[in-house]
Amino acid sequence: MKPKTSVYIATSVDGFIARPDGGLDWLEHDSGNDDYGFHGFIASVDSMILGRATYEQVLGSGVEWPYTGKHVIVPSTTLSAGDVPEELRGEVEIASGEPSELLAILERQGFKHAYVDGGVTIQRFLRAGMIDELTITYIPVLIGDGIPLFGALDGDIKVRHLSTNSFDSGIVQSLYQVAR
Ligand SMILES: NC(=O)c1ccc[n+]([C@@H]2O[C@H](COP(=O)([O-])OP(=O)(O)OC[C@H]3O[C@@H](n4cnc5c(N)ncnc54)[C@H](OP(=O)(O)O)[C@@H]3O)[C@@H](O)[C@H]2O)c1
Repeated sequence: MKPKTSVYIATSVDGFIARPDGGLDWLEHDSGNDDYGFHGFIASVDSMILGRATYEQVLGSGVEWPYTGKHVIVPSTTLSAGDVPEELRGEVEIASGEPSELLAILERQGFKHAYVDGGVTIQRFLRAGMIDELTITYIPVLIGDGIPLFGALDGDIKVRHLSTNSFDSGIVQSLYQVAR
């Protein structure tokens, strides 16, 4: 069976996931001790499809690799296996192909639930009908310009609203199931 696919992403209220230069400063928000369900979510996935641009940003940020224990496929037409840092080999795999082909790689390896991350990557998976669930966390700010969460579609995609929570911080989080 193909792995379940979930998106868990933060967006500005005007629909951007990063500034035009990739900046994420607007994400910094006083959240107290609340992680908005992220730890529970990340514990529920065994694998990731992590867009090449997001992967490179994580690697370049200098923080410790945050996805230890997850098998990560980085879809890319420009990177190759040799570009993966030594310490991540075995955990990070570079692949290219249609979303269904990327999921087939995870399926062959027995993975059950993949976290799909990165703007272009999420858009490609949505267009291919390969996303099951969307958790969207709205940060209460308009940033005017940037990398969009959503993009052009070949046709409408119906989503079923499952829940919405609002927090004292002003953050609103909604969970949608994508109709197949
Ligand atoms: N707000 C948030 O929660 C959040 C979450 C994640 C990311 N971000 C931000 O979003 C920005 C990056 O997003 P992005 O939209 O620029 O890109 P992205 O999805 O991270 O990466 C796009 C790249 O992934 C590769 N790719 C995707 N699908 C592919 C496929 N099927 N086959 C082959 N390659 C494929 C291509 O790489 P090649 O060019 O190598 O072919 C493409 O250029 C970063 O600034 C990041 O910080 C924000």
